[in-house]
Amino acid sequence: MSVLELSIPRPDDWHVHLRDDAILAKVITDTAQTFARAIVMPNLSPAVTTAASADRYRARICAALPASADFTPLMTCYLTDATDPKDLEVGFRDGIFTAAKLYPAGATTNSHAGVTDLAFLDNVLQTMQRIRMPLLIHGEVVDPAVDIFDREAVFIDRSLAPLVHRYSELRVVLEHVTTLDGVEFVYSQGPNVAATITPHHLMINRNAIFRGGIRPHFYCLPIAKREEHRLALRRAACSGNAKFFLGTDSAPHLLSDKESACGCAGVYNSATSMACYAQVFDEEQCLERLAGFASEFGADFYGLARNSGTLTLRKGATLAAPADINVGGGKIRHFLPDDPVSWHIDSLESR
Ligand code: DOR
Ligand code: ZN
Repeated sequence: MSVLELSIPRPDDWHVHLRDDAILAKVITDTAQTFARAIVMPNLSPAVTTAASADRYRARICAALPASADFTPLMTCYLTDATDPKDLEVGFRDGIFTAAKLYPAGATTNSHAGVTDLAFLDNVLQTMQRIRMPLLIHGEVVDPAVDIFDREAVFIDRSLAPLVHRYSELRVVLEHVTTLDGVEFVYSQGPNVAATITPHHLMINRNAIFRGGIRPHFYCLPIAKREEHRLALRRAACSGNAKFFLGTDSAPHLLSDKESACGCAGVYNSATSMACYAQVFDEEQCLERLAGFASEFGADFYGLARNSGTLTLRKGATLAAPADINVGGGKIRHFLPDDPVSWHIDSLESR
């Protein structure tokens, strides 16, 4: 018998870009309506590099929340060559920081102030290992000689494998894993190494970016890979292995910045992500494993309590694309794959 309705504990998003100012004010509702908590990426301009700036950013997020929202932003520190380990430690101890994010300098949007050489991070990583603060990694090399589709696999060989060897107790998340290589690497490590998986990397392969013409709304970083990699991500997400959990990497950009001669990387999926994940788990015939992936394994990895609310998803008519979001004079487009999605969010009970 096919399942038509599924209730899971309220999920968390372990990787999201909420931006700031006018965009934050518009997109926060989509995240807060679905997720109880989210790990908020720090790649603002200027980046969130200190506990004081994270505390102020958190206050801006909370001020932008609708009055009825039951949502907690979890803040991250943007690591640079000059990150002060003391500020990081105090910020973590005081509950301002939940984790720190490593962007190799130049790897993606607003990453120019990121880390140019992991050697600069030695004190920082020693500190994080000691205090058990998670390191979240954008796992791509920036070497322009490396093909864009190989940048994750090469990063694992050149940087990630040596890093987890050197800091063997460090808690590490390979964010938005996109390759079989990444999945195999995470499996090969202990329970301190995990990965997040986005809905779009589970649903599209690299052909989608070029189907019928160039499709900027399917362009993100790390870029979608070949079909064999998408299938590996599906197996990992649906495996029931607690190393793999939900992180949407929802990354809003205005249409004018996406549909451009040099368009920005990022897929905005906050409103459609849970329907997409449910679609994938349904197609893989493992809907009973969605709760672990979406609502349990991430909280367990971060050492946080699981949520008490409930999200109910329902299968029915094909999900229609939500209307673009108006922001000032611009618009933000929601992610929806070309193939139909038959799931949607039915209801949410906060507590
Ligand atoms: O596609 C992406 N967009 N990948 C990232 O790593 C950053 C993000 C953004 O901030 O737009
Ligand atoms: Zn991201």
